[in-house]
Amino acid sequence: MDRWLARIIVAQGRWAKPFGDFNHRWLHALFRPIPAVRDLLNGRWLGHPLHGVLTDAPIGILFLVIVLDILDLRTAADVALIAGILTMLAAAVAGAADYADTDGTARERATVHSTLMVVALLVYLASLAIRGGGGAGDDRTVAVWTSVVAFLILAAGAYVGGDVVYALGNMVSRHAFRGAGTKWIALEPAELDDAGDIPEGRPVKGRLGINTLAIVRRGEAVLALHDTCAHAGGPLSEGSIEDGCLVCPWHFSKYRLTDGRARRGPTVYDQPAYEVRRTEAGGWEARRRPS
Ligand code: FES
Repeated sequence: MDRWLARIIVAQGRWAKPFGDFNHRWLHALFRPIPAVRDLLNGRWLGHPLHGVLTDAPIGILFLVIVLDILDLRTAADVALIAGILTMLAAAVAGAADYADTDGTARERATVHSTLMVVALLVYLASLAIRGGGGAGDDRTVAVWTSVVAFLILAAGAYVGGDVVYALGNMVSRHAFRGAGTKWIALEPAELDDAGDIPEGRPVKGRLGINTLAIVRRGEAVLALHDTCAHAGGPLSEGSIEDGCLVCPWHFSKYRLTDGRARRGPTVYDQPAYEVRRTEAGGWEARRRPS
């Protein structure tokens, strides 16, 4: 069944790619000048994507609408429907902030997901209008079936949204499975200056066992973060230094060099940070700082 569903979703790429690129442009233009709002919606303050938290509410509430309709508890069903629509809107705003910094296949799938959610929302609004209109007297058949259809579209949208996270790893920490190892290991910078030191004033790539680090030297002090951005894997060694932080070149997440603390989104996760020291032989060695 998953292959059959995957084929249907992949086939949507024909319209989802150009539509997603279009949405990306205007969402990016909307959120770029207001990083504090975007951070709030991404969930950096929570250390967890806010969209993932908010989506549970409408799905639960809108399922409850079906149950209340079956029990013919009309007022309760209508109030739940309004609450479901409002929480859906809140989840959509948070999701739009994540969507603004989503690329490639994940953007395509996120476009299918968000389109299904918007269609579900419109069908729910139609159901609410029919309920409020009361034109057909006591008969709520059309209103009830409209919200059932909307729930099916919502469930399809939630399935695709799950795919964006679980299958494509969007908004998942790129360091989820990285061990905290505390052993000192030899650090090999990819480049050295004429004096045989790590170049100053810009990040430099370095090898630490199986890991790649972004190293920054400030005089005698050498600071290092993991090179792979926790947000979506951007190379921090190709980023820039700003206010004691390393800025990712892909979506401009900002991590404090001393401890990897996320200072600006779209990342909601901190970056692994490393202690670096000189060896007696004149080289460098590093180990991961405790988080
Ligand atoms: S990959 Fe998105 S901010 Fe680094």
